[in-house]
Amino acid sequence: ATGLTTYDPGFASTSSCRSDITYLNGEAGILRYRGYPIEQLAKSSNFLEVSYLLIFGELPTQSELDYFEQQITIHTLLHEDMRQFFDAFPKSAHPMAILSAATAGLSTFYQDHYDPKDERDVEVSIYRLMAKMPTIAAWSYKKSIGQAFIYPWNKLSYPANFLHMMFGVKAEPYEVDPEIAKALDLLYILHADHEQNASTTAVRLVGSTQVNMFAAIASGINALWGPLHGGANQAVLEMLAEIRDADGDTASFVARAKDKNDPFRLMGFGHRVYKNYDPRATIIKETADKVLRKLAPNDPLFEIAQELEEAALSDDYFIEKKLYPNVDFYSGLIYKALGLPTEMFTVMFAIGRLPGWIAQWKEMMSDPDTRIGRPRQIYTGAATREYVEIENR
Ligand code: SDX
Repeated sequence: ATGLTTYDPGFASTSSCRSDITYLNGEAGILRYRGYPIEQLAKSSNFLEVSYLLIFGELPTQSELDYFEQQITIHTLLHEDMRQFFDAFPKSAHPMAILSAATAGLSTFYQDHYDPKDERDVEVSIYRLMAKMPTIAAWSYKKSIGQAFIYPWNKLSYPANFLHMMFGVKAEPYEVDPEIAKALDLLYILHADHEQNASTTAVRLVGSTQVNMFAAIASGINALWGPLHGGANQAVLEMLAEIRDADGDTASFVARAKDKNDPFRLMGFGHRVYKNYDPRATIIKETADKVLRKLAPNDPLFEIAQELEEAALSDDYFIEKKLYPNVDFYSGLIYKALGLPTEMFTVMFAIGRLPGWIAQWKEMMSDPDTRIGRPRQIYTGAATREYVEIENR
């Protein structure tokens, strides 16, 4: 009744929108991008190929993929004036605030020659967004630790370039570990799209007003920031650290999550659609096991996460309510092992989700039936009444 869950027919249809992009079966725990099972894409594909698939609808030929990668590579630099943009923020600024502001701000560098109806303008904007988001993200991290910005190095792969900008320093060369880059690439694939989640709905609704793509994507970044959505991966690590500091007492946290008088929820558990194990969480858990064995063999948080999962999944409350680990439950452990601060975790989700937001925006904008989103409501306020002068109130 508050609007977004019942679309105005002009937006797409009465209860949800039609889309060819991602298929989700929450009961069976199935996720497919353009018909391809997530398990196969995770095993055999890479993030830019999956991005191409989501945005353009088909797996690319080698020459199509080469062109896509090359177009993204040549757009990784930000306009040099954007450097001052970062100076405007306090050191403690949350990187999601910088990411959303900078993404909307990017449009100001192209506003004189950008027409959302012009195919070439849209295509170049896609390359610009895909290319520049990792640069913005890495520079927001460098700003927060007072280090010099590291510029993109176009010889590197997409994930390796990000790691290089994040962890490289001007004083010495930085070697990206290919296994780490591969783990990051896999995480990006697993986050790339998820049909009509809150942030994608925000992108579609804002985009339906015909505002430029950068502004529509910025609205998705803001929606994702919330702890009930993408912000959950940061909240999971904070929760696991609390459990560690409580001598690993997972039982008391499970009990708190069940207590109706306690607003506490098990972060990384539950899902509006999945009433089964989130297929992404299964893959991420395997990756976490491998990455942590190599990078953080003594970090107790992975064991605590596994104990917590075991305690919750053997508890009637969680079984009855079909609350399983979701994509955010294990991903933060990998980001932490990569050396990322918790504030950067949701930024990683945003980089991964970007091709999905772009694909959904593009699908909506190319649908001739799309009109401005205008959800309706069920009015529950006061009946008609006469105005009362202030002296008589
Ligand atoms: C993402 O939509 C997407 O696809 C999102 C996403 C994507 O890829 O875009 O998958 C990414 O956002 C994953 C979700 C990350 N958020 C969290 O992990 C935060 C913790 N989870 C919950 O807050 C909750 O499960 C939601 C927000 C994810 C889903 O909320 P719903 O479907 O609205 O469920 P609900 O709040 O109506 O809860 C149903 C019942 C409630 O109990 P009752 O009122 O029926 O007695 O289950 C309980 C809730 O209290 N419940 C939980 C719980 N999640 C739901 N109880 C304890 N711990 C939890 N985590």
